[in-house]
Amino acid sequence: MPLHSKVRALGLALLLTITAVGLSAWTTAPSSSRTASSDAATAPAPVPEYAENGMVVSAKRTASEAGVEMLKKGGNAVDAAVATGFALAVVHPFAGNIGGGGFMVIRNPDGSVTTIDHREDAPSGATQDVYLDDEGNAARTRSRRGYLASGVPGTVAGLLKALDEHGRLDRATVMAPAIRLAEEGFPLPHALAEDLNDRYRAFAEFPVTKAYFTKGSASSKYRTGERFVQTDLAQTLKRIRDEGKSEFYEGETASLIAEQFQANGGLIDEQDLAEYEAVEREPVTATYRGYEVHSMGPPSSGGVAIAQLLNAAERKDISQMGFNSSATAHYLGEAMRRVFADRAKWLGDPDHVQVPTEGLIQKDYMQQRMASFTSSRVTPEDSIRAGEPMLTGESMETSHYSVADSSGMAVSVTTTLNSGYGSKVVIDGAGFFMNNEMNDFVLKPGVPNQFGLSGTKRNLVAPDRRMVSSMSPTIVEDPQDRLHLVIGAPGGSTIITTTFQVIMNVIDHGMNVEQAVTAGRIHHQWKPRHLSYEEFALSTDVVRNLRTREWDVTKGVFGGIPQWGRAQGLRIKHPDRPDQVRVFRGSSDPRGPGAAVGF
Ligand code: DON
Repeated sequence: MPLHSKVRALGLALLLTITAVGLSAWTTAPSSSRTASSDAATAPAPVPEYAENGMVVSAKRTASEAGVEMLKKGGNAVDAAVATGFALAVVHPFAGNIGGGGFMVIRNPDGSVTTIDHREDAPSGATQDVYLDDEGNAARTRSRRGYLASGVPGTVAGLLKALDEHGRLDRATVMAPAIRLAEEGFPLPHALAEDLNDRYRAFAEFPVTKAYFTKGSASSKYRTGERFVQTDLAQTLKRIRDEGKSEFYEGETASLIAEQFQANGGLIDEQDLAEYEAVEREPVTATYRGYEVHSMGPPSSGGVAIAQLLNAAERKDISQMGFNSSATAHYLGEAMRRVFADRAKWLGDPDHVQVPTEGLIQKDYMQQRMASFTSSRVTPEDSIRAGEPMLTGESMETSHYSVADSSGMAVSVTTTLNSGYGSKVVIDGAGFFMNNEMNDFVLKPGVPNQFGLSGTKRNLVAPDRRMVSSMSPTIVEDPQDRLHLVIGAPGGSTIITTTFQVIMNVIDHGMNVEQAVTAGRIHHQWKPRHLSYEEFALSTDVVRNLRTREWDVTKGVFGGIPQWGRAQGLRIKHPDRPDQVRVFRGSSDPRGPGAAVGF
């Protein structure tokens, strides 16, 4: 993941400002424009984008603009989200997709909240044995690259279910920007041109991928700004536009996917596609200091884990303890360890295994889990295991986008192919990448996946099962039940801790949304044992303090990635006085080249 220079500058500005003038001056920095503070004593605080009628925040400006185009046509937040989702499938092949899956949280104008699970599921031929070698060891590359790595894609079913049930505009209108971008092409941004060139060898392994996403030889390079046209993808999108969900799952696109998979030793067949359904599910809702936090339930672990982390944080005065102070990092690190131990043991597909969601998110349960916490030193590694929640009888690459409209409707979507460009397999004649989501299953108990996450038999590969996710699209309402924050992030296991920390930054530290997504983060996932931190997230002094408490503190995650989780957030500022208007404030994480676009 390339180090983005803007975040360096902003991170430094944040750190300098905190140290120079303290948090209170920082959070009262001027909020009406992007220009710097006139107060010479303060470094400029990062300021979000502003708008009065609605906003879309995503990983690519053209995709955010596609969403805003819908708001301007009288569409609602769901229309905008669906247009953004399809546009990302064109301009962000790294993670935007129709060959992958995701989760969507929707807040209706009346305040009711629902979710659409469009996670991939395992093909009917997928069994544990497929992913073990002759010696019974996990054959890791099978779940990461090539034809065995893909689950049945859910994105088209999820986006179109949302549009049918919650949108106002028709399919042709919301898909028009994506089709235009594919058919007419778009100027290749430098980062994408460079990334495609860098991946020549990985893509050349698959002849179809080589034909679509390389220039035919290692020496022939994409140039920044050259027009990138995707004719077959445009045709695929047009077929979906004309025929709807059934085209992708039972029509020509389904045949193209199934035939290519069957011819190359893959598992997905026509029946797997025909049987795929996106599922509406209840959100997981937590309360935090009077706010309501709605996020994604199983098969994502995100909502449960965030609720658990918030329950732990609520027991302390985090604001008083201070942003990323030794005391805060120590306490949150301990909470994260316990929560990820629970994730590993208890999470699975709720349609196949019993997940004790209610027990895990009870405030008393987290109180019990934190009982072994001591402020002086880290809890010994071997004494942290999963807890025993009450069973209440209930049965690196991703992309997030956040949308809100003027009616109070909001949509939070996290979508993924899993790794960048998924399995690296492109569908011939259709022009899109397939996911490698099978790696999110437990291939063998005790063997970690690419994000270092392990699990139990609850998340083993099994036909039609959905693999556990960390994706955490989230919507927060304020104590007056008004829409407050729409947030989410990519980043594998760090999705959970990133989303949690942005929520805390806003509620506990009073940051504006730009400051909240920019601020440096910490991460712990129980195993491995490191407490990771981003550059500038912890001062040398705090790192030293944590080491005296016997923490294994490491800069970067997953073996050295210095920064993680390109969060996309927007926050609504409701008027305090009759002469004020409601304002949407959006921020696309400066760790990447996305954009908040409003109108
Ligand atoms: O569902 C999950 O948790 C993973 N497949 C997400 C992958 C991801 O975030 C990769 N990106 N940065």
